[in-house]
Amino acid sequence: MTPVTEAALASKLTDRINRIEPSATLAVVNEAEKLRQQGIDVVDFGAGEPHFPTPQHIKDAAIAAIQGNFTKYTAVGGTAELRDAIVHRHAVDFDSDYRREEAIACVGGKHAIFNAIQVLVDHGDEVILPVPYWVSFKDIVRYAGGDCVFLEADESQGFRVTTKMIDRLVTPRTKLIILNSPCNPSGAVMSPEDMIEVVRLAHERGIWVISDECYVYLNYTDKRFSVGSLREFRERMIIVGSLSKTYAMTGWRLGYALAPAAVTSAMQKLQSQSTSNPTSITQKAAIAGLRGPQQCVADMRAEYIKLRDHVINGLRAIPGVKCTLPQGAFYAYPNLSAFLGRSGINSASDLAGRLLREAHVATVPGEGFGTRDHIRVSYATSIAELDRGLERLRKFLASL
Ligand SMILES: Cc1ncc(COP(=O)(O)O)c(C=O)c1O
Repeated sequence: MTPVTEAALASKLTDRINRIEPSATLAVVNEAEKLRQQGIDVVDFGAGEPHFPTPQHIKDAAIAAIQGNFTKYTAVGGTAELRDAIVHRHAVDFDSDYRREEAIACVGGKHAIFNAIQVLVDHGDEVILPVPYWVSFKDIVRYAGGDCVFLEADESQGFRVTTKMIDRLVTPRTKLIILNSPCNPSGAVMSPEDMIEVVRLAHERGIWVISDECYVYLNYTDKRFSVGSLREFRERMIIVGSLSKTYAMTGWRLGYALAPAAVTSAMQKLQSQSTSNPTSITQKAAIAGLRGPQQCVADMRAEYIKLRDHVINGLRAIPGVKCTLPQGAFYAYPNLSAFLGRSGINSASDLAGRLLREAHVATVPGEGFGTRDHIRVSYATSIAELDRGLERLRKFLASL
């Protein structure tokens, strides 16, 4: 028999797997890693994760869990102790009143979003997704058979999303609106007023809302806010949180959702047929994070604000670069449209690719987030690394 090509085999896989693409951010991480393996000194603005280590008391709790043989299966949606800790933290910080049954622990915030979308979105349903969007939303919706309806956020107003903009896109097929504030990649933060209006509209029209609040503790305005505090609109709302960014725990894989019990139990049913429980040891570490001292969160936030100011000043000082001021998360999203069309560079992907290969700075091109004129710069690194990368970027852009 003649051997079958990889492409021919791929075409025999399911429609649903062929509807989606690999995560654009992971692609950059891989390419930068290849250069590093060749001994090339790459400045990494690509990775979407804190540069801080996990706080010691959280690590200690994990070590104690191992020593204490807390190494068996647990309840699928997390132990009662963990779910209570999730509910408690949210109640203290955002004045919410969720019950244990309304909380589910998952293998990261991404997993919580995946489960929620599979539970809420059917074939042909429309999902309103503000642009720029975090890479995975679009593909997870497509995997569920849904159609994304893209809403262009207003860059001139710091990528603002308003009810009016959403209202125009609602049709009888609209099933879900996805909010992500603070936003990856733009760093935009919705005002509580704008968020309340959107949630109210969704409630009135019977539309679900997923509020991805994975960066809720990295909000640099003085109005930290979760829609979970809006008790009267909770019926249609899924809050997604994560310990990844809050406690510098990306590798541990612990996220959660707070939602009506009918939703969390459906998510649990799905999870029971895929991953089962999040790692038992991670669950103990998560409890230490959620119940322990919160000063580490405040300290990291203060550091990110310094880094944000440094990188934005640096980017804005480069001739031709425009950049909105991110109000949260740890990304800058500079607009590089002034350089497109120069020296054979016709897209953000061309630009990010050449920037990586020629100047050895890793960034993520905007196409993965639904925009053509931007690259995403993660500033979760040291001031010295920021300076090295900014200098390389400045020289590279000047050479075009
Ligand atoms: C907006 C957003 N949501 C969710 C996630 C998922 O994070 P995790 O699965 O590590 O909790 C990320 C990670 O980068 C993110 O940026």
